[in-house]
Amino acid sequence: MRQLPSILFAAAAAVAGVSVAWAQTAPPAPAPAAAPRGDPDAPANMKNRKVLPANITHRELGQTMRAFALSLGVRCAYCHVGPPDGPLSAFDFASDANPHKNIARGMIRMADRINAELPKIADKDSRVSCYSCHRGATKPALVPPEPPHPADAPKAPAS
Ligand code: HEC
Ligand code: HEC
Repeated sequence: MRQLPSILFAAAAAVAGVSVAWAQTAPPAPAPAAAPRGDPDAPANMKNRKVLPANITHRELGQTMRAFALSLGVRCAYCHVGPPDGPLSAFDFASDANPHKNIARGMIRMADRINAELPKIADKDSRVSCYSCHRGATKPALVPPEPPHPADAPKAPAS
């Protein structure tokens, strides 16, 4: 497997089908000589990269970002500096001014640590992704929901 962190690979694969539209509207990279502009498999050449792999492509970056947004139930502006409903071209994606972006970096590292441990505990291909915990919310639930119907409640042991 490529060096894409396992969590990102899983998350990206889960939304691969919807990523192409993003890739096409991605802000142009600072024109690398070798890569034709608009090629989704060309390196994304991120301007401010601290966690994602150096060789990540436009397509993979788009899939990863889309997976983040879907997993937390948010849009790009939750982590990036830009108008909430504005066009992607109005965003400064390289900026770290939005504190959620750095929290997300910490979450990627945390999830990678969990994914290094999981195969030692459960199946060898066990994984977590952002969605495993977040389930479409910024703050994962700490306690389980009440059962939908009292009859479904776990029975107390007979005394
Ligand atoms: C949960 C937070 C989060 C959400 C939501 C999110 N991003 Fe990101 N994004 C990040 C992080 C973190 C990085 C930097 C990763 C690193 O440092 O390696 C990043 C980096 C980027 C970059 C590269 C910037 C550079 O350095 O050149 C682009 C482009 C980008 N995001 C686009 C998007 C788009 C488009 C969306 C909405 C579909 C989005 N992001 C949603 C967290 C997020
Ligand atoms: C093991 C569970 C777990 C995983 C996996 C996980 N998170 Fe989180 N995340 C949490 C918890 C718990 C919080 C704290 C929520 C709170 O403040 O109540 C949190 C908080 C956050 C926040 C801050 C939310 C806020 O309102 O301030 C961001 C952003 C975030 N996570 C992004 C991510 C991204 C992106 C991923 C995938 C790379 C990810 N998380 C994976 C459990 C997880």
